[in-house]
Amino acid sequence: MGRNIHFEEEVTSTQKIAHKLANAGAKEGTIVIAEQQIEGRGRLARVWYSPKYTGIWMSMIIRPKIPLNQTPQLTLLTAVAIVQAIEKVTGLFPDIKWPNDILINGKKVVGILTELQAEADQVHSVIIGTGINVNQRREDFHEDLKSIATSIAAESGEKCDRSLLIQEILIHFENLYEQYLRSGFKPIKLLWESYAISLNKEIVAKTLQGTLKGKALGIDDEGILLLQTGEGKIEKIYSADIKIK
Ligand code: BTN
Repeated sequence: MGRNIHFEEEVTSTQKIAHKLANAGAKEGTIVIAEQQIEGRGRLARVWYSPKYTGIWMSMIIRPKIPLNQTPQLTLLTAVAIVQAIEKVTGLFPDIKWPNDILINGKKVVGILTELQAEADQVHSVIIGTGINVNQRREDFHEDLKSIATSIAAESGEKCDRSLLIQEILIHFENLYEQYLRSGFKPIKLLWESYAISLNKEIVAKTLQGTLKGKALGIDDEGILLLQTGEGKIEKIYSADIKIK
């Protein structure tokens, strides 16, 4: 990973650039990093605030030979790599909230956006975007985000070296990705479960089809969340916003 890095001062969105590079045949492991994004975007077309010199706004291109239904696993794998890197660099212990949030002390520090380019049932590139709030001060967050978002520095009380963190993320990602290609999702799933906070808790899942309440049992072998409703039925949740009760 990262042998081919496109570093930019200001971009619309690193995702947008990575999609273009992937279309133009960029190699697996190509990375786009920017100091600032002016159209940073999150899941469900939400805005992702990406102010200058404070965070890590990065998109990686990978080309795994896997069927479409396995791609949610890559978001979970990326979350594990980032948690391991944050632990190593800062000594903080982040949690993962399914599917793509990394929290410290209950507030969001990292969001992951996984997008695909595919034909029929076969993936030909995956663009994994990661937004990491690194050195923002508490007061830098918008009023409406203050209670739900934070940064690494705000939680540790120390400025964090962004280059070092990027380096560690790429090392951990590469290790896990190679393990995944060799041995499949099972070992990654175990690691993911060790960092997950939503498991065995009562949750509310807001999906595009409606709201479901129940106990989060875990993830299946594809990385899909399994929720047991009050009636004992097991629902598969492919995409949702989760609130832990
Ligand atoms: C989310 O939690 O909704 C996902 C946020 C993903 C943000 C990152 S920042 C780098 C990349 N470029 C974007 O425009 N979005 C992703």
